[in-house]
Amino acid sequence: MPRTNIPTVETTSGAIEVYTPAARAFHWIVVALIAIQIPVGLYMTYRGGALNIWDATTNNLYSAHKLGGVIILLLVIARFAYRLTAGAPHPEPTIEPWQRVVSEINHWALYGLLLLVPILGYLGVSMFPALNLFGLFDLPALAAPDKKMSETLFEFHKLGAWALLGLIAMHIGAALYHYFIRKDNVLGRMLSLALRKP
Ligand code: HEM
Ligand code: HEM
Repeated sequence: MPRTNIPTVETTSGAIEVYTPAARAFHWIVVALIAIQIPVGLYMTYRGGALNIWDATTNNLYSAHKLGGVIILLLVIARFAYRLTAGAPHPEPTIEPWQRVVSEINHWALYGLLLLVPILGYLGVSMFPALNLFGLFDLPALAAPDKKMSETLFEFHKLGAWALLGLIAMHIGAALYHYFIRKDNVLGRMLSLALRKP
């Protein structure tokens, strides 16, 4: 895996490698978008499903979710391409070998689901078809209409979203464990200079 231009910063325990500003920007922008995307997805399906309210608000929530999802997909494709070409810092030197393995698996699985979940959603709306956004314009279709298949794809979209949420919970738990309990530099590698521990 290439590692190009990985920055280092000085700490009281010596120089440590950190994520590049581009990698950090990708990370935190995607975090902010996912933090909106999942609640909107859950609320719009609750409103349209359990409450059976199909008014302008529900339709706009669906449109926002579809638009947000496509933006996330494009960003994650760019981020993944950047990750594959520019690489990432070496594992934080003090972490245990098992933590290294679990974090590698978690990170690659996160990338996998960050790509798979929106692709399944987009294929689902292409086949349903329900490509319109805010009554203004249609997203380009990725596949021919097939209602039955779209329902299967939405089931997998939902399962994938819950799996993503599970991985995110583990990931945040690990980041907090490193910061508050293990007190190492793992979280600092992904934070801006101002928030980093000395
Ligand atoms: C990372 C991006 C995405 C995440 C995390 C996400 C998450 C979710 C979640 C949590 C739900 C609710 C599932 C349920 O309880 O039924 C949902 C439903 C839905 N999503 Fe997404 N979504 C993403 C991207 C997309 C994209 C790109 C599209 C389409 C362009 C899309 C279209 C839909 C649709 C139409 C539903 C409703 C499905 C149904 O009624 O069964 N999503 N999404
Ligand atoms: C939507 C939620 C999140 C997603 C999808 C996500 C995804 C990812 C991914 C894919 C990586 C691997 C980066 C790479 O090596 O290319 C990563 C790294 C990292 N994330 Fe997140 N993240 C999320 C939320 C958070 C939060 C809330 C925190 C902090 C509390 C956090 C802290 C970190 C840290 C510290 C790393 C670097 C780990 C290391 O140096 O080995 N993440 N994240």
